[in-house]
Amino acid sequence: KIIILDFGSQTTQLIGRRVRELDTFCEVLPYNKFPKDDPSVIGVILSGSPYSVHDPEAFKADLSQFVGRLPVLGICYGAQFIANSGGGKVEKTDTREYGRAHLQWFEAGNPLFKGFDANSQVWMSHGDTITAIPSDCRVIASTGSVKYAAYASDTNPLWAVQFHPEVFHTTQGKQLLRNFVVDICGSRQEWSPASFVETTVAELKEQLGNDRVILGLSGGVDSSVCAVLLNKAIGHNLTCIFVDHGMLRKNEFNKVMDAYQGLGLNVIGIDASEKFFADLAGVTDPEQKRKIIGRDFVEVFNAEAKKITDAKWLAQGTIYPDRIESLSITGMVIKSHHNVGGLPKDMHLKLCEPLKWLFKDEVRRVGYELGMPERLIKRHPFPGPGLAVRILGDITRERVSILQEADDIYLNNLVSYICEDGEPLYDKVWQAGAVLLSNIRSVGVMGDERTYEHPVALRAVTSTDAMTADWARLPYDFLAKVSNEIINKVKGVNRVCYDISSKPPSTIEWE
Ligand code: XMP
Repeated sequence: KIIILDFGSQTTQLIGRRVRELDTFCEVLPYNKFPKDDPSVIGVILSGSPYSVHDPEAFKADLSQFVGRLPVLGICYGAQFIANSGGGKVEKTDTREYGRAHLQWFEAGNPLFKGFDANSQVWMSHGDTITAIPSDCRVIASTGSVKYAAYASDTNPLWAVQFHPEVFHTTQGKQLLRNFVVDICGSRQEWSPASFVETTVAELKEQLGNDRVILGLSGGVDSSVCAVLLNKAIGHNLTCIFVDHGMLRKNEFNKVMDAYQGLGLNVIGIDASEKFFADLAGVTDPEQKRKIIGRDFVEVFNAEAKKITDAKWLAQGTIYPDRIESLSITGMVIKSHHNVGGLPKDMHLKLCEPLKWLFKDEVRRVGYELGMPERLIKRHPFPGPGLAVRILGDITRERVSILQEADDIYLNNLVSYICEDGEPLYDKVWQAGAVLLSNIRSVGVMGDERTYEHPVALRAVTSTDAMTADWARLPYDFLAKVSNEIINKVKGVNRVCYDISSKPPSTIEWE
């Protein structure tokens, strides 16, 4: 595997994705947590950082743990850190160099640049500049304004680049990472969904033996794939619990229960909507709503889990980005996300997270490998608190059912609208849903009558990881049809708007 040492850059995760796209296993670890004595490590990548190497709080790694022993690639801050530690020089500049640049020269024949075109475009994003490199290194690429765009060591397998090969705008960035990971580090590119399923099922059998396992299902891809994988390994020793808080999409609870039963899973469905509605009555603050739902969910789930008295394990569909976010060294809480509550402590359950190394697209590939229905695998993400964070103002059963109707019309149309390339529009967007602006009323006219009702906002975004997102350019004829259908069919709604905000500065959900 490849180790990516994280110095806090926003693009560290992206480096991980790129390495995985090369069918190579990788781990992103904090900058100071290089695993000693792990024979499976074949190379090391040092990420960028929000800091300057001269900042007193800058992150420092012990390079002697791997330089000279394993192939190393430093990126941006990684390159500056290596230069600065090895007797080179990094100087503060007042201007941040940001954006496109071109490699006016690179060392032909250097394995890092195999297959590179002349004048290849790279993406720069740095404040400081390297002005001298260590004495055992030589420059291997320059742009018009950056002399040390890349350098390499003459004595160690070490390369460093000032630009970001992981981002889209470095046109041959994937090629550079392939050159490093496959040619230089010698990855055999053995990661595949089939090999993952085979080894994971074997490991789970070994780890769990004849123990009982409990798993919370949400209807989402991650927990569903996790359940099917465990079912394959331990069959009916797995008990799944699916809690309906009353704020799921229209008929979703039943549809998803049917799908799970079709997959042969042992699922207990619990309708706890009474409790959730009672506890949410009169609450308008978004964070408060999340807290109540998170707390109630834990209570309901734990009460049910406790009935399975001989359970030894709690399984969760945690995936890699969930963990990187929670490990993130410069992370900031904008919205608290609750998917899973705390463990019922007195049950002394051990945690089993078979998907914890996977990215979302890999989870989907594993889902296909397991023969799961396409509609379950391609489902859009849906927030844990459900429609509660898509109703502005307080939540009532009536408002939820108005929103369910509008949302259902919107989603059905997304699925049935087929684009020119034959794919449903639904598959072109990352996430879509309707939002009920129940604290706003506007005037309309229906027949001869004046109406004074609520607007619905439609949201659809494109994204790769929900960290950033853009509003989807949905066709006008599609929007026209959905708007008509909602206003004509859903009582209580007399206006439909389309949300054209990107993230940042907006977020995907309205609350
Ligand atoms: P935002 O609104 O923060 O959403 O741009 C990013 C992604 O997270 C989902 N989301 C949540 N998921 N509990 C969840 O499990 C939550 O409280 C929550 N809030 C937002 C959102 O749907 C999007 O996919």
